[in-house]
Amino acid sequence: MGKIKMDLEFAMENDPAATSKWTVFWTYGGFNALFRHRFAHWFYKHGCKFFAFLIAKGTRKKTGVDIHPAADIAGGVFIDHGVGVVIGETAKVGTHVVIYQGVTLGGTGKQTGKRHPTIEDNVMISSGAKVLGAITIGHDSKIGAGSVVLKDVPPHCTVVGVPGRVVKQYNERVEDLDQQKLPDPILEEIQRLNKRIAVLEDALDVKGCRYSITNDNDDIKNDDTINKDIKE
Ligand SMILES: CC(C)(COP(=O)(O)OP(=O)(O)OC[C@H]1O[C@@H](n2cnc3c(N)ncnc32)[C@H](O)[C@@H]1OP(=O)(O)O)[C@@H](O)C(=O)NCCC(=O)NCCS
Repeated sequence: MGKIKMDLEFAMENDPAATSKWTVFWTYGGFNALFRHRFAHWFYKHGCKFFAFLIAKGTRKKTGVDIHPAADIAGGVFIDHGVGVVIGETAKVGTHVVIYQGVTLGGTGKQTGKRHPTIEDNVMISSGAKVLGAITIGHDSKIGAGSVVLKDVPPHCTVVGVPGRVVKQYNERVEDLDQQKLPDPILEEIQRLNKRIAVLEDALDVKGCRYSITNDNDDIKNDDTINKDIKE
């Protein structure tokens, strides 16, 4: 009963459209799905799995929310609207989590055992987001609408896109790394050495071999600090 009370209070806090607890209790599909899940989960834990699945089936039909009776959902969770929400068997959801319509907390289809996500406290999962696999969404994070999240998310992050990437942490923008052009420190060092050799060869008036597959980085070619180093 404690969890149901927490769900009611959290729904009131999070939905500006909620006029009273009475209205939430009797008319909110997401709240109703969670309410029924509390009973289904109890029966599942106490060995009455058939009855648990019957309740879950009724919930799916009535609200459009499909929660496996084994899913571990803390008190104080708000499923807004609800339709299309799917929560898998080994999913774990912390307290003060908001889940919008169309969210899937599912498996990737490749894992067995623990194969659904763990959602820590104070997380918001926006409409249509898919969080897949045995990953952890860190507390106080936000998952953007329509994102597909396949990797762990640290706390206090905003994740958007397909596949999901962190764009903010602690409300600060995270600079995006171009995955096609990752820095290569070894190549850069070889380019620097090539440049030094060329400058030394010029100083000694030695005709060296200038061809190098690494000599194509303009930043390195124009690096005057190398010339300066050699002269000093
Ligand atoms: C992710 C979200 C929660 C915003 O979080 P936030 O921490 O305030 O992040 P911001 O709005 O500052 O956005 C950060 C960046 O992500 C981008 N972004 C935000 N949401 C995005 C989304 N769903 N998909 C792709 N990019 C998105 C923004 O354009 C911004 O990019 P920029 O910095 O290049 O301009 C919000 O955009 C969202 O998805 N809300 C949906 C809520 C919902 O489901 N409502 C349904 C109610 S029924």
